Amino acid sequence: MNDVVVTRAEGVLTLRLVRTQKKNALTAAMYEAMMDAFRDAEGDADIGVIVIRGGDGVFTAGNDIADFIAAAQAPGDMAAWRFVEALARLETPLVAAIEGVAVGVGATLMLHCDLVYAAPQTRFHMPFVDLGLVPEAGSSLLLPQRIGMARASEMFLLGELFDAAQAHRLGLVNEVVPAETLYTHAQARAATLAAKPRAAVAATRRLLRGDRAELHAQMKREAEAFAQALKSGEAQKAFLAFMARSKGL
Ligand code: COA
Repeated sequence: MNDVVVTRAEGVLTLRLVRTQKKNALTAAMYEAMMDAFRDAEGDADIGVIVIRGGDGVFTAGNDIADFIAAAQAPGDMAAWRFVEALARLETPLVAAIEGVAVGVGATLMLHCDLVYAAPQTRFHMPFVDLGLVPEAGSSLLLPQRIGMARASEMFLLGELFDAAQAHRLGLVNEVVPAETLYTHAQARAATLAAKPRAAVAATRRLLRGDRAELHAQMKREAEAFAQALKSGEAQKAFLAFMARSKGL
């Protein structure tokens, strides 16, 4: 899978998104590649941490809009849903290194990470409502828990962009790191974590995350609402507007 490059070093498995010409918009094949890598990491005693990152000034523009259009026409199994479920169930610690755009699941996946590092120029955006959609990846539960209902409502309902400094103030990002050192810093923190006693790390994560039943129930509700919304006139109109804009129409 050429759009996701997987490398390993120092107990860390790194997933690098390299569909740069499409702003790393995530296709079904990319979700499958990431899920394969998650499975490899979970079954490999040498791997203690997974890093997810973009490059060349972009993290990800979120789900590929063409795939949303296809999914609305032929509903069924969506790799995106299996991916967010896999994220929520991941037992290996997850570190994200984010620069440039982090849209949709590119922003909500932060809520499943153990450590998040972002470059100052990062622009986070959760434009679900503007696309005629609803939040996913458990974010409708996890975001208000993390930052409070007032701010979560503002982010979801008004869909305004926020930057790395704001994400840091809100506790969504551990550190704002200059773009030049972002990836080396995130890899170094990941390697430090991978070298810690594994069972204690795993047990601590489970304690921090607590009972996940409510999260999985909410993700099921989100998936149902999202599948409905995908077929709506509001969503179709937004997708077509994006496709037309990107073709310069
Ligand atoms: N799905 C499919 N293609 C996408 C995409 C997406 N989510 N995001 C970007 N692309 C494509 C563009 O169509 C364009 O393709 P082209 O060169 O063949 O025309 C290319 O990536 C570059 O994107 P462009 O919009 O020209 O870059 P930009 O720097 O002006 O804007 C974004 C970057 C991310 C702000 C903008 O592309 C965007 O808003 N994307 C959609 C994000 C989104 O709504 N995602 C779904 C979240 S649920």
